[in-house]
Amino acid sequence: MTIPRARITGTGSALPDRVLTNEDLERMVETSDDWIMTRTGIKERRIAAVGEYTSTFATAAARRALEMAGIEPAQLDLIICGTVTPDFPFPSTACIVQQNLGATGAAAFDISAACSGFLYGLSIAEKFIRTKAATHVLVLGAEVLSRVVDWTDRNTCCLFGDGAGAVVLSAQEGSSGILSAHIYSDGNHWDLLHQPGAGGRNPATQQLVDSRQIFIRMQGNEVFKLAVRAMEEAAHAALSANGYTVADLDFFIPHQANRRIIDAIGKRLRLSREKLFTNVERYGNTSSASIPIALDEANRLGLLKREALVLLDAFGGGLTWASVLMRW
Ligand code: UT7
Repeated sequence: MTIPRARITGTGSALPDRVLTNEDLERMVETSDDWIMTRTGIKERRIAAVGEYTSTFATAAARRALEMAGIEPAQLDLIICGTVTPDFPFPSTACIVQQNLGATGAAAFDISAACSGFLYGLSIAEKFIRTKAATHVLVLGAEVLSRVVDWTDRNTCCLFGDGAGAVVLSAQEGSSGILSAHIYSDGNHWDLLHQPGAGGRNPATQQLVDSRQIFIRMQGNEVFKLAVRAMEEAAHAALSANGYTVADLDFFIPHQANRRIIDAIGKRLRLSREKLFTNVERYGNTSSASIPIALDEANRLGLLKREALVLLDAFGGGLTWASVLMRW
């Protein structure tokens, strides 16, 4: 009995039209283009308009991925959406996307794994496909982080952006597809990066809003150090599990949080610069959306050659981290 591989047959992304530059931020908080560029590599980010939600971008990205894959929405067995900024606490944003697409045959759910959400989604989808429980799965990473950013806090407001990315994973025979998916968590550090309200622990009250607890809080320095170490380890785990070394890699797409983190990982892995994809300068940190947006850009630019060895590597709140290795 052959075990099918889960192969990405379509990618898509969608971003808000509105661009917020570092110069715009200089007029909002005490910061400078120089500080933001030097510390993060971010030049600008996209911000959702009134009336645009996580599901808006997720649906648009999904339509592009489905079109590329040549799959009708009704053929989808599963829709998985990584997000920390769902349209509502419930129902899931995946269910709203299901309605928008008319994907009547799918089961749909969200994943809360912050910036690792998309890779957690790929990991789950891959298991469904390999066990023949699903043939076509839509995996999304989608966020409107601008809605949970404190626009008076210079420590965080220059970092994040909005957008969505999507892939269609399909069961296929052959050597292409996901080779392994490693997912990790360390709940001991959940408080380094979190949104204190308005969940079940701190329900929505005026006091919660006034004390700005409805916004993202991050101890950036600590997260930075842990991110570099964990992403390096996850990259090595993916390669060694498949009998490869860094020299075998053709393309590396890390989570786009900070140019310095990306460069530090590239340096530790001794990866040549042209194999490392970055777009953080244009979109900032879009959390779960960052890897699928980057994957779609690289794919549409023709940078991913058939059979190329591609590594995806993420890190985020939870703490969570993950790596997915595939033959394109
Ligand atoms: O996506 C999930 C994972 N998230 C991440 O990976 C983010 C990880 N962390 C980071 O990217 C970086 O830690 C930051 C970009 C958030 C901060 O860079 P840093 O080099 O770690 O700076 P820092 O936190 O040590 O702050 C240095 C100084 C502080 O001033 P003092 O206390 O040294 O006087 C900050 O107040 O920079 C100050 N600062 C700013 N100054 C101008 C912080 N934000 C700004 C700002 N403009 N926007």
